[in-house]
Amino acid sequence: MTSSVTPLTGRHALGREALLHEPAGGDPDKLTLVRALGSLVWDEHGREYIDCTAQAWSNNLGAGDSRVIEAAIEQTRAIAHARPTFHTPALLELAALLVSIAPEGLNRVGFTLHGSMAVEMALKLAMRNRPGAEHVAVLHDGYHGRSITTMAASWPHPDNGFGRLQPRFLRLPRPDLYRPRLALTPEEDTEVTLAVVRDILTKGTEGPVAALIYEPIQGNGGHNEFSARWHQGIRKLCDELDIMLIIDEVQTGFGRTGRMWASEYYGIDPDVLVFGKGVGGGFPLAGVLTKQEYAKFHAGDDQLTFGQFPVSVAAGLAAVQAILDDDLSAVAAAHGRYATERLREMQTRHPLIGEVRSPGLMVSIELVRDRVTKEPAVTEAHEVFLRAQEKGVIFGESRYANLGSLIKIKPPLDIPRALLSRALDVLDETLTEVEAGMGAR
Ligand SMILES: Cc1ncc(COP(=O)(O)O)c(C=O)c1O
Repeated sequence: MTSSVTPLTGRHALGREALLHEPAGGDPDKLTLVRALGSLVWDEHGREYIDCTAQAWSNNLGAGDSRVIEAAIEQTRAIAHARPTFHTPALLELAALLVSIAPEGLNRVGFTLHGSMAVEMALKLAMRNRPGAEHVAVLHDGYHGRSITTMAASWPHPDNGFGRLQPRFLRLPRPDLYRPRLALTPEEDTEVTLAVVRDILTKGTEGPVAALIYEPIQGNGGHNEFSARWHQGIRKLCDELDIMLIIDEVQTGFGRTGRMWASEYYGIDPDVLVFGKGVGGGFPLAGVLTKQEYAKFHAGDDQLTFGQFPVSVAAGLAAVQAILDDDLSAVAAAHGRYATERLREMQTRHPLIGEVRSPGLMVSIELVRDRVTKEPAVTEAHEVFLRAQEKGVIFGESRYANLGSLIKIKPPLDIPRALLSRALDVLDETLTEVEAGMGAR
């Protein structure tokens, strides 16, 4: 039989990329990674890069931490797999550790392997807790995953071909602190949005709303921060209307914002908190923390074959303990102050930088073509990304429709200061080059 596979050209040495289920043509800029240590990764050609993405913001603890690797190896040797009808010692220990560091009142834990499945677990809990309520509310520009249901819960995905299989969510507007509507101030925009949200939750549905889920800082939807007033206003509305408040901390948890949880940073009081990414120390792990009165699963409601994969759980136990032992929340806060100060200084020299966003090491800049109109500088941002990668620094991008103007700087929380500084030097150089190119066009 002859093969119909056409190998991709370009940087790929293996020629097998066309075999993968990837968008047509693949991505010629996609690197093949062969090694990682701390905040560094190496590609198949031995090139070294500073990884400012922490691999989808999940290596809060740098890659290959020996405490995590040893725990995973030990667990693999002892018992690699146990179905969810059994406990393992690491599972019970991690449950206790997470409850000990959880926001006040969250003292029941459920585990799974992906953030998307953890969000689904939270949604199932909402259904169990509010049997008569059919709606779940989500925010515009939110992101909760790529399972069929969580894709539907995310901002209307620009190329969503799965609507036939998806539940409908009640979509609520969100305040926009960078581009407030109708020339309002950010504070006024927040007040108006809260009022509209109240109207939709009370008059815009055919029945009660079981839950409202949102991210404390919207990550994939554009690094959108909210004010403390918004978080308090939403909590008040949920109390008044008996709506379960689910906070999706998959991206913001485990020290990323300079506190263990963004909920702590902003003073949010969730009924259910969804976690993922950083908890596993690079291994797949996620779950929910719940107030006791909401822990209402029936037998079999959430049992997945590998849902409590012992190797991930043991790695997660070591990772969370290491994040605490090394006080990585404080480290992230200090790195974040340093990075944002440098970026604000760069903003005085680089007209492309529209806004510098934080907190902690949840850092990004939005590039704009004009600071008054705030027109997103999408092609310029991609050029910055590509040039920086050529210079050995991988920044995060936001590649979706209407987005694409962000450069994200979210490395492992324990990145050495010298590497963070080098990454920012490269960003500075790259912005100069791209701005020079804009002048020449
Ligand atoms: C806020 C948020 N929720 C959920 C998810 C989904 O997590 P996963 O990709 O592990 O399924 C993500 C992933 O980026 C996320 O950022």
